[in-house]
Amino acid sequence: MSEETPVIPLLTPYKMGPFNLCHRVVLAPLTRQKSFNNVPQSHAILYYCQRTSKGGFLISEATCISDTARGYPNTPGIWTKQQIEAWKPIVDAVHAKGGIFFCQLWHVGRVSNKDFQPNGQAPISSTDKLLMPQVRANGIDVAHFTPPRRLRADEIPQIVNDFRLAAKNAIEAGFDGVEIHGAHGYLIEQFMKDQVNDRTDEYGGSLENRCRFALEIVEAVANEIGAEKVGIRLSPFADYAESADSNPEALGLYMVESLNKYGILYCHVVEPRMMTAGEKLGSPHSLLPMRKAFNGAFLVAGGYDRDDGINAIVEGHADLVAYGRLFLSNPDLPKRFELNAPLNAYNRAKFYTDDPVIGYTDYPFLETTS
Ligand code: FNR
Repeated sequence: MSEETPVIPLLTPYKMGPFNLCHRVVLAPLTRQKSFNNVPQSHAILYYCQRTSKGGFLISEATCISDTARGYPNTPGIWTKQQIEAWKPIVDAVHAKGGIFFCQLWHVGRVSNKDFQPNGQAPISSTDKLLMPQVRANGIDVAHFTPPRRLRADEIPQIVNDFRLAAKNAIEAGFDGVEIHGAHGYLIEQFMKDQVNDRTDEYGGSLENRCRFALEIVEAVANEIGAEKVGIRLSPFADYAESADSNPEALGLYMVESLNKYGILYCHVVEPRMMTAGEKLGSPHSLLPMRKAFNGAFLVAGGYDRDDGINAIVEGHADLVAYGRLFLSNPDLPKRFELNAPLNAYNRAKFYTDDPVIGYTDYPFLETTS
């Protein structure tokens, strides 16, 4: 008998639509707040390159679709020529290493304040309900929000169009596709979730009405760049930014069944066990109905380690597993999983600083013995 090394399910190839992935360990979208003036910087070349392996799938940090989409300092955008040009060398470098790179398209909606808005105007949302001050994810800073302005129904096509244009720009920048950020309490969820959405027009009330905005964006983006280049991220079970839903199971199921009509590439769902405090709660099996109902590739994220990821693949709960904090701190994560090597610890205090090196590109690689 040959002494073949056992196959590690996370490291088996997977064909996702037109993309031939060499393994299933995905770089989750990770905001790093180092894009000064909303323009991606050259230090991002090294950061993304370090996390690229041949046939690996990477999702960019959340990227603002327009000047009203911003809510955090130094997050990148993709609505100006300068931003598109600045993304190009980053995307090129990822491609040169054989990676497949999607741009996550983001509008924060009411998770913003007037300091981030053009002309100091109120942030836009599905509602005019103010979000209470929140401790930022770094556990230190407190974010304060400005009362949002409820979008009129006749203004919504413009926002849908901004997503479409951003997707077009992402393709122009060289990205292989886009992930629509429909998670974590941002604008799209402010429409989807009934804790937030208090509208009485065709964008509020029933599940169908609350999901209308998300699906209009999916349709517009898919028509613009092709459904095989479109993914979406959802977190029906999460409650970030006061965005719980009274029936997350129904919401998740309705969304994936509706997404099937557009034939998009993938659905990326954040686990119910990944709650605000970052603790593992609940059961990954709550996503199974969504997984079974969705026709495209199914990505999961939220609190996965190597064993959890392997189990998700073996048990058929997911096709791909996205890793956030572990990939942030281990640029060679797929290699470490292959060797079952120890992992670098992540430094939470450095997640969102504007330092272009520390806690960004200085996490060590495994020492090679060759
Ligand atoms: C995140 N997360 C996140 N999610 C998202 O959809 N867009 C984003 O830009 C970000 N930004 C971000 C920054 C940082 C520093 C962290 C730690 C997290 C959530 C992330 O993609 C992932 O879902 C969570 O981190 C849970 O996965 P892990 O970290 O348990 O693998």
